Amino acid sequence: MKPSILEYIVCPTCSSDFKLLTKSKLKNEIKEGTLICVKCKDKFKITKGIPRFVVDVTKDFVRTEMAFSAKWKNHHKNHHAKDWVNWQKNWFLERFGWKSIGQFNTFLKSQNFILDAGTGIGNSAKLLSTNKSSTVFALDASDSVDFAYKKYGTSSNIHFIQADIRQLPFRKTFFDYIFSDQVLHHTKNTSTSFKYLTKFLAKFGFISIYVYNKKAPIREYVDDYIRKRTVKMSVRECTEFSKDMAYLGQALSKLKKKITIPRDIPLLGVKAGTYDVQRFVYWNFLKCFWDESDNLQRSVGVNFDWYYPKFAYRHTVSEVKKWFRDAKLKITTLKEIESGISVTGRKKS
Ligand SMILES: C[S@@+](CC[C@H](N)C(=O)[O-])C[C@H]1O[C@@H](n2cnc3c(N)ncnc32)[C@H](O)[C@@H]1O
Ligand SMILES: [Zn+2]
Repeated sequence: MKPSILEYIVCPTCSSDFKLLTKSKLKNEIKEGTLICVKCKDKFKITKGIPRFVVDVTKDFVRTEMAFSAKWKNHHKNHHAKDWVNWQKNWFLERFGWKSIGQFNTFLKSQNFILDAGTGIGNSAKLLSTNKSSTVFALDASDSVDFAYKKYGTSSNIHFIQADIRQLPFRKTFFDYIFSDQVLHHTKNTSTSFKYLTKFLAKFGFISIYVYNKKAPIREYVDDYIRKRTVKMSVRECTEFSKDMAYLGQALSKLKKKITIPRDIPLLGVKAGTYDVQRFVYWNFLKCFWDESDNLQRSVGVNFDWYYPKFAYRHTVSEVKKWFRDAKLKITTLKEIESGISVTGRKKS
């Protein structure tokens, strides 16, 4: 933890400043210590270089974060791999309407304080930190922040924080840009979590989110059926099931066969057309992800990510538009793809 973070963070309970007690330091990083609120006296630990603010101990929340801690423990290496980081960067640019990384970097130049809400293992925080005069706060509730900190901790303008995006240690209207990619649908209530986040946006600030899209009805039905069971499994059991789904995806994908549907099947949400067999099964009937670069571990990780977290809500474009309208945000880009909805909006005042 960089001591300069004290200029920005406040007690998540009462929004007052902190007093810092340092136990151990390495160069300019506080490794162990305690943050004590000057007003309500709540205490938050700093361990392994990261301030820890998660206070929700409800069963559902703990289980959700345990699922992600397990996912990142097993899959941080394959998600830190260069090919994945590069793929993720290009996917991000495409979804949020950036013509090039140069255009996005120009946008970043006018964003002083940036929140990466649910950073996972920190790849997005790194992408958001290109402009060295911006300050990026990379936050996640799970132990993924430890992997993010190990990988990107030497970046001078990223602060790593373990906290809940529904209980932030910041003052309202603090951020110029909030980025929350594939996170909000994993909280107890996507729309109230979004509404809460927007309170931290400065006037004319931007927010970009990605949430899961509702799928074809049979796929939704099957997802509900499977998830009802998989969220109750042990990590090992769900990993094995996720592997089964990866192998099934691989088998279908290796067919390299196409299927032609001669006319729309409205009841199943299927449109006439020619599809790759694996993609057709995947989008309409069953999530069985197989990574195009033939990475088994990563494929297992993606399936696990879908089947294990307690909450994984799917939404429609009209729902998302309503959230932005209600929060008085003007939508600047919106892209709907089969898997999800990516939106950026700007606070009107
Ligand atoms: C699917 S991952 C996405 C990570 C990253 N944004 C990315 O795009 O690679 C979802 C992340 O959201 C985090 N998360 C879920 N609920 C959260 C909450 N209430 N507060 C903070 N982080 C949360 C999880 O711990 C997990 O790391
Ligand atoms: Zn306090």
